[in-house]
Amino acid sequence: MPKLERMPEDHIYQAYGLYLLEPKHRLIRTLKRMYAPSVHGHKPWGSSYLIMDYLTHHPFRKGSRVMEIGCGWGPAAVFCAKRYKAKVTGVDVDKDVFPFLEVLAELNEVSVAPKVSKFQDLRAKELGRHQVIIGSDICFWDSMVKPLYNMISRALKSGTRRVIIADPGRPTFYELAELCAAKYETELSEWYATEPDRYLGEVLEVRA
Ligand SMILES: C[S@@+](CC[C@H](N)C(=O)[O-])C[C@H]1O[C@@H](n2cnc3c(N)ncnc32)[C@H](O)[C@@H]1O
Repeated sequence: MPKLERMPEDHIYQAYGLYLLEPKHRLIRTLKRMYAPSVHGHKPWGSSYLIMDYLTHHPFRKGSRVMEIGCGWGPAAVFCAKRYKAKVTGVDVDKDVFPFLEVLAELNEVSVAPKVSKFQDLRAKELGRHQVIIGSDICFWDSMVKPLYNMISRALKSGTRRVIIADPGRPTFYELAELCAAKYETELSEWYATEPDRYLGEVLEVRA
């Protein structure tokens, strides 16, 4: 059995070496009184744990430049910064997610650069500066499929080596996977995370 590690205070939990905060934690309760993410970025989603587990098995080089699109509170971004000392940018259309990201990053003693933007508006040059682009649970509306595919194409044509997207398995996500497979080296894997709980979903990796 692994060594039992006591949490430093109440309402903190751990997953993949990260400290995360429960909704009851005083900092989350305070932030929620001041900021109200409105495009589903109101908690760490299960797919972010899939990204953490997948990257544990398929890591990238330490110190890589990573961009998380639709980062929300950014648990996967913080994981990349902490585990792989990555230089990470978190992109989200909703500015109200960033105070939560900042608290998670601070708690884990890393920093993640915030950028308020739609993924549709990210330019090829900026995308291509990042060797790895990740996203968890970001393909949930029909209207997101084509713009996400276009963003992946711009990134891969401009220098990005790997794009990794995790999802619970929505039809829109499979549509995106099909579009990518028709043009790029693509792997779609059923995957599960074991921390903080068991969570089952899919991981799409698209390579240049
Ligand atoms: C379901 S949440 C997932 C958040 C985070 N990735 C996670 O797994 O915890 C979707 C996130 O995508 C963001 N989002 C939605 N549409 C977007 C767009 N067009 N460009 C950038 N971010 C977007 C939302 O604001 C939200 O934070």
